[in-house]
Amino acid sequence: MTQPLPHFLSPTSLSLDATQELFERALELKKRPIRTDLAGQSAGLVFFNPSLRTRTSMDISMYQLGGHAVTLDVGVGTWKLEHREGRVMDGDAAEHVKEAAKVLSRYVQALGIRSFPERRSWGEDRMDPILSAFAKWADVPIINLESSLYHPCQSLADLLTIQERIGSPKGQPIVISWAYHPKALPMAVPNSILLEAAKFGMEVRLAHPEGWELDADIMSRANQLARGAGGSVTVYNDIEDAMPGARVVYAKSWGSIANYQHPDEETRLKAALRGTWRISMRHMEATDNGFFMHCLPVRRNVVVDDEVLDSDRNACYDEAENRLHVQKALLLRLLGT
Ligand code: CP
Repeated sequence: MTQPLPHFLSPTSLSLDATQELFERALELKKRPIRTDLAGQSAGLVFFNPSLRTRTSMDISMYQLGGHAVTLDVGVGTWKLEHREGRVMDGDAAEHVKEAAKVLSRYVQALGIRSFPERRSWGEDRMDPILSAFAKWADVPIINLESSLYHPCQSLADLLTIQERIGSPKGQPIVISWAYHPKALPMAVPNSILLEAAKFGMEVRLAHPEGWELDADIMSRANQLARGAGGSVTVYNDIEDAMPGARVVYAKSWGSIANYQHPDEETRLKAALRGTWRISMRHMEATDNGFFMHCLPVRRNVVVDDEVLDSDRNACYDEAENRLHVQKALLLRLLGT
């Protein structure tokens, strides 16, 4: 029997074999969505940041499995939470994650946490401090619903979508492309699709302008995974060079680590990239009948043109739907049924 997972925090929390097994279950759940496996069980969904897809799909995942979800918006419907240890809590936060995690663990069988980076420093954010505090103090499994570093529920849905469209992802070329965006966005999504695609042995083409390199440890892990799975990771600084022959174009903007504490400098440098790093039908036509992916939300005509999103190359809605199926399979795995 499959052993329950302690926590699901990153794309590497599941091996390739375990991920493939989870996909088989997700596809069964897609055919027969309504179950009673989790009757009487509850999940707490703790959101420090906004969400459309994650909160809706997690809530409905629990419902369709016969269980129940309680969604908490931190500081809106709950007390503000402190996560750092040893703090004199005389500021805004009325409760510590230590108490919140322990008390919620008395009510629910799993906890999902969404916690974006605080952007004080990359050194702090890359430790995933809020998610790590919940993982340390909770007595139930933690599901990462997007942290500073990872969005592993998203990357599961992404790889299932790729597998459904082109069969085995192994050896298939995927472009993971930076895109212009007015804000400096988190790196959780590019980190996760990079690691997940590498884990599956895809030919990963990571395209970004110079100065927007991903974290060196993530790159090193991706290269290690790719080598182990017979794939590769190659960095391109010119988006045009990455496209020929690709089967998948995955666009996502992210902030620059090099200018993490210099947002005005990042904005200045980025202005010149606006027209070049936006996915158009011309890019898509350079691929091998490739399809377009994005985790959503996406800014139309900033990250990608309407012409791409409104065409049959758009796989974003399949990706969003697959969040539901993979999360249900994950909940069954985490809760040991
Ligand atoms: N893709 C994704 O996680 O969407 P939300 O931020 O709306 O949850």
